[in-house]
Amino acid sequence: MRLLFLGDVVGRSGRTVVAEQLPGLRQAWRLDAVVTNAENAAGGFGLTEAIYEEILAAGSDAVTLGNHAFDQRDALVFIERAPRLVRPANYPAGTPGRGAALVETAKGQRLLVVQVMGRVFMDAMDDPFAALDRELAACPLGRSADAILVDVHAEATSEKQALGHFADGRVSLLVGTHTHVPTSDFRILPGGTAFQSDAGMCGDYDSVLGMDKEEPLRRFLRKTPGVRFEPAAGEATLCGLAVEIDDATGLAVRIAPVRLGGCLSRTLPDFWT
Ligand SMILES: [Fe+2]
Ligand SMILES: [Fe+2]
Repeated sequence: MRLLFLGDVVGRSGRTVVAEQLPGLRQAWRLDAVVTNAENAAGGFGLTEAIYEEILAAGSDAVTLGNHAFDQRDALVFIERAPRLVRPANYPAGTPGRGAALVETAKGQRLLVVQVMGRVFMDAMDDPFAALDRELAACPLGRSADAILVDVHAEATSEKQALGHFADGRVSLLVGTHTHVPTSDFRILPGGTAFQSDAGMCGDYDSVLGMDKEEPLRRFLRKTPGVRFEPAAGEATLCGLAVEIDDATGLAVRIAPVRLGGCLSRTLPDFWT
């Protein structure tokens, strides 16, 4: 299975780079599945139903969220009729939506998409390790799923690495989101799970985490109320992770980062061309 994960889509420039690049990449690399984190797609905060549909139409099979999941209040309602939309599994019981989704690829392979949220330097949540364990027990690799992608939405690298080792050998790919900065620690762990602490964002890097840099800078300099954060409007970099998964085992065999467009250095996988 050829799998592409795309990190947090931020605002209009992030949506534009996904709409412009993803259909071509899907075809050129003959991708079997694409999963996109879209927690910042609507004006930098949350996701609307129309944008969710747009991201699926561009070539995503599933969409993940994060701490901004419900910033657009509509999400509390439309998430219930969005079977390919996944919010963190360790929200308290009763939170709308689902923490995992099983999607079928064109070839008929079953991809389980799970998201958990970290607790270090983040809002208090249920235990992400226990939540992940539960989701994997309900749909184990090799039995109920042909491949499993876990999006760990977390601030601390330590927590993401620990979750990677916790899931090693039980999932195809465990990738971090939320920090909006791609890390260079992408690798296949000893048990066969592809890992990267953070995939980075699909957004304008001439910014502070995808937001127009003036207001964040002002808030660091002056501790007084200011204006709303607005997404930076320059050309975005498409950031993500390309993983090839062995069809027999569901474990990773190849991994490479993807950075395309905007102001970050370009890198693309060399094994699908
Ligand atoms: Fe984000
Ligand atoms: Fe986040």
